[in-house]
Amino acid sequence: MVLAAAIARGQAARSLKDAYQEFFRIGAALNQAQFEERDPRGNPIIAAQFNTISPENALKWQSLHPRPDGYDFAAADRYVAFGEKHGMFIVGHCLVWHSQTPQWVFQDTEGKPLTREALLDRMHEHIRTVVARYKGRIGGWDVVNEALNDDGSMRQSPWYRIIGEDYILKAFEFAHEADPQAELYYNDYSLENQAKRKGAVDLIRRVKAAGAPITGIGLQGHMKLDQPDARQEAETIEAFAALGIRVNISELDVDILPRTAPRDSADISATAAVNAQSNPYTNGLPEEMQQALAKRYAELFAVFVQHRDVIGHVTFWGVTDGDSWLNNFPTRGRTNYPLLFDREGKPKPAFDTVVSKATSTRTPVR
Ligand code: XIL
Repeated sequence: MVLAAAIARGQAARSLKDAYQEFFRIGAALNQAQFEERDPRGNPIIAAQFNTISPENALKWQSLHPRPDGYDFAAADRYVAFGEKHGMFIVGHCLVWHSQTPQWVFQDTEGKPLTREALLDRMHEHIRTVVARYKGRIGGWDVVNEALNDDGSMRQSPWYRIIGEDYILKAFEFAHEADPQAELYYNDYSLENQAKRKGAVDLIRRVKAAGAPITGIGLQGHMKLDQPDARQEAETIEAFAALGIRVNISELDVDILPRTAPRDSADISATAAVNAQSNPYTNGLPEEMQQALAKRYAELFAVFVQHRDVIGHVTFWGVTDGDSWLNNFPTRGRTNYPLLFDREGKPKPAFDTVVSKATSTRTPVR
């Protein structure tokens, strides 16, 4: 009876943000057409379902600051205005990353590598300009994205090679100086894997000890159907919460296609060629796979709900399956099904299991 009532309530609540209101915010990464309200399929879903947004590409260095002497804020301004219009918690992604960052950032006018001081100045100027522009409007920033290798060691990015490990500390200081109220996150993928998680926990301990104003971690959450398992996910959330920071799931999706990349990674430079075996569902997703995805999402949200006290938001990396970057990563031109809404914008069985996970957890109304 209790279960039946819960399921009935789950089916009645058709919005993710309402279902999860008592627990954490639910979000989606938006592409440009979406925050410019030019996506007739996606826009009604976004307005109805989500109370936080992330910019899929619009706030990356190469989008905002393509030339040494110039910023282009037009798209980013529209992104922030969209979030405000809908009363959403607005996330900024991302300030310091090795990817989608122009080469000139690391070079002087003659193309030679910058000195540590010059690169720190450039980073400071970028962070100050961008964060101050949206002060009090963007509520949380991915300050540093993907600073670690899969084995937990520091990625040898130009930031690291030129400045040293304290580029991370400095990035947080600069962001905090520009908007002292904003939440500031470290964001990375595969943190569920033991070695990388340990590297991240140690890194956060070090930068916190040095005084970095970090408030949270983004577990990107680019999942497979079978990996990471629920226990790993729970342990990961607990490991970061134990450091006294909030945990967000910042880029959630579930890749259901056969693996083509050599490593278990969300490294966007790792691409592989497409073939029929690696792209089996071009004509639709078989029912058993649909159910497997629904079960997988139920399992993940059970863990998130259990850890609701430390989770700020859970954000999907895209709105409908057709939008997802996983149609082109790690292999271009495949048909993937990683999200809760299908290519026509209809909620999938996974949507129902996610909604009922929330409703069945609530204290029953007498
Ligand atoms: C992806 C975008 O979704 C794509 O459109 C773009 O071509 C490459 O970047 N981790 C991140 C995101 O932090 O910024 C990436 O977004 C996905 C992996």
